[in-house]
Amino acid sequence: MIAITGTPGVGKTSVCKALGMDFADLNSLIAAEGFYTGVDKGSLIADLNKLADYVSRSEPLLIDSHLAHLLKPEIAIVLRTNPLLLAARLKQKGFSAEKIAENVDAETLDVILIEAVELCETVYELDTSVKSKEEVATLVREIIDVETAGESGRKDALRAKYKPGSVDWTFLVKAFLSKKTIS
Ligand SMILES: Nc1ncnc2c1ncn2[C@@H]1O[C@H](COP(=O)(O)OP(=O)(O)OP(=O)(O)O)[C@@H](O)[C@H]1O
Ligand SMILES: [Mg+2]
Repeated sequence: MIAITGTPGVGKTSVCKALGMDFADLNSLIAAEGFYTGVDKGSLIADLNKLADYVSRSEPLLIDSHLAHLLKPEIAIVLRTNPLLLAARLKQKGFSAEKIAENVDAETLDVILIEAVELCETVYELDTSVKSKEEVATLVREIIDVETAGESGRKDALRAKYKPGSVDWTFLVKAFLSKKTIS
């Protein structure tokens, strides 16, 4: 099982659709199958036990959601997006100012990446910011091919190229702080 995860709006579902492979969209499953324990500020609170049980029975290769890594798959692909770009995408998606701020903070602080590293054996980190969804899908396909059938040399090289920590948004914070200090 491979999780396609990342902060809401980074493009998980768009990339999964561009892959042209079967995938389980956990967010849709949570709503459609009633895998939730309640509602918080309009968002469903996922019932991870029910979700994990369902996923273990249907055994999809790809699971798509900002919660996908919480099901502890062996491999997680964490999509990343420059927080400034992410804010614009979330605005276009109709998110409230509060939800945009919450998700931009989470992306800036690597929240999902850190969770994935704690829970999953192998983690890839891909920056989608200056790529099309088709380009990201091509990279994800390469990772899937290498992880499912590739020889170990190729696997090691790919894991090293996209290892956790390869994306870093702290330059935005530094730029903001230096501007504040100067002005
Ligand atoms: N390189 C890219 N990869 C993926 N999506 C992109 C890219 N560039 C632009 N986009 C756009 O960003 C948006 C991402 O929305 P999408 O619903 O796929 O995100 P998501 O990560 O699945 O969010 P959620 O967690 O809310 O389900 C889409 O409108 C998509 O067209
Ligand atoms: Mg989605």
